[in-house]
Amino acid sequence: MASVRLEHVSKRFGAVSAVEDVTLTINDHEFLVLLGPSGCGKTTTLRMVAGLEESTSGAIYIGDQDVSQAAPKDRDIAMVFQNYALYPHMTVYDNMAFGLKLHGVPRDAIAKRVGDAAEMLGLQNLLKRRPKELSGGQRQRVALGRAIVRDPAAFLMDEPLSNLDAQLRTQTRVELKRLHQRLGTTTLYVTHDQTEAMTLGTRIVVMKDGVVQQAASPDDIYHRPANQFVATFVGTPPMNLMPVHLERRDGAVYAAIEGQRLAVPQRVLGALAGIQVEKTTLGIRPEDLTVSRDVGDGGLQAVVRVIEPMGHETLVYGDIGSTSVIARTSNAWTGRVGETVSLTLDERRWHLFDGVSGTSLLSD
Ligand SMILES: Nc1ncnc2c1ncn2[C@@H]1O[C@H](COP(=O)(O)OP(=O)(O)OP(=O)(O)O)[C@@H](O)[C@H]1O
Ligand SMILES: [Mg+2]
Repeated sequence: MASVRLEHVSKRFGAVSAVEDVTLTINDHEFLVLLGPSGCGKTTTLRMVAGLEESTSGAIYIGDQDVSQAAPKDRDIAMVFQNYALYPHMTVYDNMAFGLKLHGVPRDAIAKRVGDAAEMLGLQNLLKRRPKELSGGQRQRVALGRAIVRDPAAFLMDEPLSNLDAQLRTQTRVELKRLHQRLGTTTLYVTHDQTEAMTLGTRIVVMKDGVVQQAASPDDIYHRPANQFVATFVGTPPMNLMPVHLERRDGAVYAAIEGQRLAVPQRVLGALAGIQVEKTTLGIRPEDLTVSRDVGDGGLQAVVRVIEPMGHETLVYGDIGSTSVIARTSNAWTGRVGETVSLTLDERRWHLFDGVSGTSLLSD
């Protein structure tokens, strides 16, 4: 096993800049998730690490070795793709053994490694079947098994769960996590699914338009997003954003939202000291809003537009003037569409972004 390092790696396809100046270390044993919308450069980054795509500039290291010019087969990396790419005419056993045979591994050693991987993945009883006789989830496990038997320095996975139905995806996600806990293999995992990123990643790297937006722990990505893009890409429903004007009056600072005014919490003021910004965007997650039917309590007044009971919770969609917000409340909440309610923001959970660049103004 080894760390994987990218240093100032870029990739251009003609006029398209697919990956821009990415510098990133995937530590030994780490499960690093590359997360971002379609077309942001995730697959291209992965393919450059695998050696399937040549970078336009920059260097890639596996361990201490510069592999930028090395052929894919010399990089000691195993890749798992979205479309498993199993050999249809081979049995499960032969699919898993194939790479090892090519590398001249002795027959006994192959049997042992395939047997161990099959046991780990619950494939022992399927070894004689062909791919078409397997379910989607089983095929995906064979693809994983084929990577595991190689015992590579690192795994590269490109949306390996996206062909599975929702239930199987959740199940396989848990299996993947268990597998990583057991094997500890350095993994670079690509997905556009924020749930996969949050649940699997020891760290998450959020990309947009080929550029890394933030590389941090799932907790930091969720609670301390570096900018508005990260803040709204992770979280369902997404973080509420409200344009606000900061007003200084009688020594205090207020955030004006649609003609209503909120005192800015002390914690936020501290971070704003010395920064000259007036136009900002206030961010608050749906679970950090409390909905009250008592409109005299000093919160922001909003008109309820839609109520969505989810079973374990209820989502309340409301309008503060022309700004729409979503609040997550308990399933016991009773309210009516058309009613005016009061929304209180958890002072510890404010996010404030520069109104122009979208960069977070809070560093803690
Ligand atoms: N061979 C190619 N030739 C030209 N442009 C390409 C090529 N491969 C990728 N691109 C472009 O580079 C950008 C990044 O593509 P990439 O496949 O890395 O995105 P992605 O993040 O993996 O997206 P998705 O989530 O849809 O798989 C896109 O704009 C894409 O159109
Ligand atoms: Mg892709």
